[in-house]
This record gives sequence, C-alpha cells and structure tokens, in this order.
Amino acid sequence: ARVVVLLSGSGSNLQALLDACADPGYGVQVVAVGADRDNIAGLDRAAAAGVPTFVERVPAHPSREEWDRALTARVAEHRPDLVVSAGFLKLVGPHFLAAFGDRYVNTHNSLLPAFPGIHGPRDALTYGVRLAGATLFFVDAGVDTGPIIAQVAVPVLDDDNEDSLTERIKVAERQQLVTYVGRLVREGWKITGRKVTIGVSDT
Ligand code: GRF
Repeated sequence: ARVVVLLSGSGSNLQALLDACADPGYGVQVVAVGADRDNIAGLDRAAAAGVPTFVERVPAHPSREEWDRALTARVAEHRPDLVVSAGFLKLVGPHFLAAFGDRYVNTHNSLLPAFPGIHGPRDALTYGVRLAGATLFFVDAGVDTGPIIAQVAVPVLDDDNEDSLTERIKVAERQQLVTYVGRLVREGWKITGRKVTIGVSDT
C-alpha cells in the first residue's frame, strides 16, 4: 500500500516506518514525505532512504486555504492509500479532509481525550496522572478529536521530567504506529461514527 508521511520535526516515527518497510511482508511503501518547513531531520531521513520529499510552507501561500489546497494537491500526486501525520504540527483544512479524511491518521503523545495539543507529556506531568501514553486516531476537523484506532499506556515514574517522559512515550508510540499502520493497510478498516474496526472484508 502507498503511504505518504507528513512531519515537522525529527522524524523518529518516520524512521520506524521506513525500517519496518525493509520487510516486504509489512505491506507498506512510503511513497513520499511532506513537511511544512525546511531544514528538519525528518526530510533528511526521507532523502537518505531515497523517498521523494516536498515542502509546503504556510507563509508561501496567500492564505491558509490556499496552503490547504496546495498541500492536498501535493499529497494527491502520490495517490496514497493512507496518509500518516507523524509529528506534523499543522492542522489541515477542509480540502485536505475532503480528500483524505477517512484515510488520514495522526499519532499523538497522550492518552486522548486527555491532553490534546502540542504539550501532551508536559500536561500529563502537570496534572499528575500516573498513566501517560500515545494515541493513534483518524484526523477530523478538531484538534486531536478524531476516532481512535489504538492507544498504548506508559507509566509516569516518580522521577520523570518532561524529557524523560516524552522519550519513554515515543518508544511506545513508534511501536504502536508501526504495528497499526501495517494492520490498517494489510487488513483494511471501517469507520462507523467514532468506532474504528480493523479487518473488514468486502464479502
Ligand atoms: C511524536 O511524539 C508526536 O506525538 C508528537 O511529536 C512527536 C514526533 O516525533 N506530536 P518525531 O518527529 O517522529 O521524532
């Protein structure tokens, strides 16, 4: 299956997917990697793996809507079966969701619906929860609100700080992403309201 990955940062999740793709049985081909900014390690990782990259910066467009259209067109060129947001720090707009809304997944570093937004681990520590984690979900028009595919819990340790918790979550998050992206493309999926079912047959 053809997968496009969107990112804004270091790309450790992308790297985990690329590593998994070395096994043909995994069933995934990362056909392109897109970003909203230049000079990020994620784009270097893609290039090192021989995967085509593109950048669509919001300020390069007259409006957010034009950026949304341009991003949609860029992704569509690669005819993805699934689009993966792996640390992509932009909310896509209505054009993108119209094109890819039922096949656009995001990984977030908290146990949603707790702690949406860009400081999941920090907010979990501040609140004092004893279980943090990561959530894979289908993106909808809200911020980290879409139908949940999978979650993994990560204990908060007494001596955790933001960095240590963030890194421990990322280990579990990468594993979850690799497992479920593979399952989605190999087994198919169905979204019914908020319920996601993996493994649907057409018969
Ligand atoms: C992930 O932990 C994701 O949840 C958060 O940003 C991180 C992306 O890391 N939004 P990387 O760029 O894949 O290393």
